Amino acid sequence: MKKYSKFTKYFQEYKWSNILTMIRNGRSDPKICREDFHDKLVVLTGATSGIGYHTARKYASHGANLLCINRNPEKSEVLRHEIESEFGVGCDFRIADLSILSDVVRVSIELSQRNTPIDVLIHNAGIYLTKKAITIDGYEKVFVVHYLSSFIMNYILMNKLKAQEKARIIMVGSEAHRFAAWGLRLDDLNWEKRRYSGLRSYGSAKTAQLLSMIVFNEQFQNTGVTINTMHPGAVKTETAQENGPVYKWFKRNFLDKSLRSPEISAEALFYLGVSKEIEGMSGKFFSLTTEEVPAPPALDKEVACELWDLTLKLAGFQAHAPK
Ligand SMILES: NC(=O)c1ccc[n+]([C@@H]2O[C@H](COP(=O)([O-])OP(=O)(O)OC[C@H]3O[C@@H](n4cnc5c(N)ncnc54)[C@H](OP(=O)(O)O)[C@@H]3O)[C@@H](O)[C@H]2O)c1
Repeated sequence: MKKYSKFTKYFQEYKWSNILTMIRNGRSDPKICREDFHDKLVVLTGATSGIGYHTARKYASHGANLLCINRNPEKSEVLRHEIESEFGVGCDFRIADLSILSDVVRVSIELSQRNTPIDVLIHNAGIYLTKKAITIDGYEKVFVVHYLSSFIMNYILMNKLKAQEKARIIMVGSEAHRFAAWGLRLDDLNWEKRRYSGLRSYGSAKTAQLLSMIVFNEQFQNTGVTINTMHPGAVKTETAQENGPVYKWFKRNFLDKSLRSPEISAEALFYLGVSKEIEGMSGKFFSLTTEEVPAPPALDKEVACELWDLTLKLAGFQAHAPK
């Protein structure tokens, strides 16, 4: 379908009632899960700060062992020591910069070769950039850290997770996917034909994640593996520290004042990973623990399939499921 007919299609599909629901859900609290999760393994990216850190603590407090994929060795050691001494569970880590494709592939292959199950896989690591950055692989960085890395990990782990016959994948998305209001520009993923904007690139990466969920969900049908995306609330974290002093001042003095505690995000991520109430639910978008309808561009099956094929090429994979 041509670009302009897509605009018209999305425009017709937008519903103001969904925006009102989003605002209402933004004020709600997550459902609480009190179930035990002893001896289960949770793989979590970006556990060294913010939402990931609180999520690691939450799962550990319910007895789960952790395998964290972090970029910073020192912070990872501190986290390991804190979690293991406080909760008596295992908190292993692997170092990987998720903006570097060879790092992503390396840890994904290692995970795929484990003989023990991964019970929950949480793609949490993320960044927000006000200025465009290009990775050593030649791709726009926000797109890689949020979308391409989680795609590659899911794709490489697909057969292992299917063989386990039970696993939950959760991608930490965002209501900000709505900033990609007119959809993904598959012809300009590197922002060479448009002016770069932090909000729109972030929205595009989160939209791409939601689109990939459509196809992964089909791949996982009837396998016992579920994949969902969640908005973790508007919470106060270390996000956007890579940006300039003006942005950081604005964040500290204005944005942060209205934000909630990342403990609500951790509570929601625990519920989505463990609760029997959502057993088997897959392909859904949640605001914390409430199911919500994403924006029309994130529901476009045609673009989801095009993006899937394009991503396989970007990642250097053959266009078939991994053996
Ligand atoms: N905060 C919010 O209100 C909000 C709202 C919607 C969605 N989210 C999403 O929530 C997720 C977590 O964000 P946060 O707010 O908790 O931010 P944060 O405090 O900055 O935490 C981000 C985590 O990701 C890691 N990370 C960043 N780039 C990485 C890379 N290239 N390779 C490996 N790890 C990397 C960071 O590692 P370091 O510790 O080494 O920096 C950190 O552990 C993100 O996906 C974000 O988009 C947040």
